[in-house]
Amino acid sequence: MQDFEFHNPTKIIFGRGKENLIGKVLKEDGIKKVLFVYGQSSIKKTGLYDRVVNSLKENGIEFVEHGGVKPNPVLSHTREGIEKAKKEKVDAILSVGGGSVLDEGKAIAVGAVADKDVWQFFKGEPITDALPNYTILTLAATGSEMNGYAVITNEDTQEKLSISSILIYPKVSIFNPELTFSVSPQYQAYAAVDAIAHTIEWYFTCNVCPNLQNRLVESIVKTVMETTEKILENPYDYNARAEFMWAATLALNGITRTGYGGGVYVNHMIAHSLGALYDLPHGACLSIVIPAWMWWYKDKNPTQFERFAKEIFGLNKKEEGIKALKSWFKKIGAPVSLQDGNIPSSDIDKIANHVYHTTAVLWGLDKVYTVDKIKEILYLAL
Ligand code: NZQ
Ligand code: ZN
Repeated sequence: MQDFEFHNPTKIIFGRGKENLIGKVLKEDGIKKVLFVYGQSSIKKTGLYDRVVNSLKENGIEFVEHGGVKPNPVLSHTREGIEKAKKEKVDAILSVGGGSVLDEGKAIAVGAVADKDVWQFFKGEPITDALPNYTILTLAATGSEMNGYAVITNEDTQEKLSISSILIYPKVSIFNPELTFSVSPQYQAYAAVDAIAHTIEWYFTCNVCPNLQNRLVESIVKTVMETTEKILENPYDYNARAEFMWAATLALNGITRTGYGGGVYVNHMIAHSLGALYDLPHGACLSIVIPAWMWWYKDKNPTQFERFAKEIFGLNKKEEGIKALKSWFKKIGAPVSLQDGNIPSSDIDKIANHVYHTTAVLWGLDKVYTVDKIKEILYLAL
């Protein structure tokens, strides 16, 4: 077991109808005015918007709206939110939506109390302050509801970068699995890939790999697969939605990483460049990269790859496990090659350079993942 520190300050309120508590939760924390951040249209279609507004009004919480967050949230819209938050002097951020909405809300929480442009924090400036942020989750996938990360795309420079700080963990996140009934089969598939990716990245790259952590990961992966199949069959299956939701949160709230040594998020590193360059959904970028990277890496950590094949699919060989995961991604409708994502093979050079010069250098992975190595991986995704 590797030494570690674990600190997750987010309170979770889980269950049917719990979104109606949001006004009370804010009031109890002494919050008087929030920036209400949401996406393009889903919360208005499902009626959630009205319920949130009612709960805020009933509890005397003032709010300023910042709707229209797009999937793969962008810097320009984040900056608009920061301007509003500063002008209106809000004392918290309330984000209602999926990972994109939550991430933009977190970035606004940082920018709203800073005297410098928010992008500087994505370039490495340390975060020393942030408004408290609260969330109601409508799409479980990223883990943003219980972690200290936010990912934003700068449309001008085509960089998709993240911030990380204890100050941006949500104070409270509300989960009602019923709110996810309307998530489309396509986004459910991307969500499943993302949750699996968050756990297997460290599982496959660890150099200290405790059994407890391995079993936690395997439990999450199996739960994600099992519940996704049930959800695709019946989108209104409450228990499947509920287990999926919690599994996706546990996948990136820090718990699976504790005790592992040497893990890295290399598939995310490559996927973020695909997201920045082609604006593909995050889970789709991952399902293209993961089988290729696994094939490229399998002999560097054979014990973990053999274990994965056996524990997840009941198969004996590491290669069989990789093929089985790729087939499963395909079965649920996630793309598994650059072609599936409409990315021309002639772009491989450009993508490899993008990965290297943006994230690989920033994450300190550039010694192992040189441009040539990234190209080797991308050729396996053809
Ligand atoms: O904008 P609306 O209308 O709300 O529609 C969204 C969006 O079109 C829709 N949706 C959300 N909840 C719904 C719903 N549709 C019907 N019913 C509902 N209940 O789903 C679409 C996708 O939403 P989005 O928030 O973009 O998806 P996701 O949760 O997968 O978030 C992806 C973003 O999170 C980042 C990704 O890079 C990407 O930018 N990530 C954030 C992480 C973090 N903060 O820890 C880690 C991840 O690795 C990831 O990088
Ligand atoms: Zn992810």
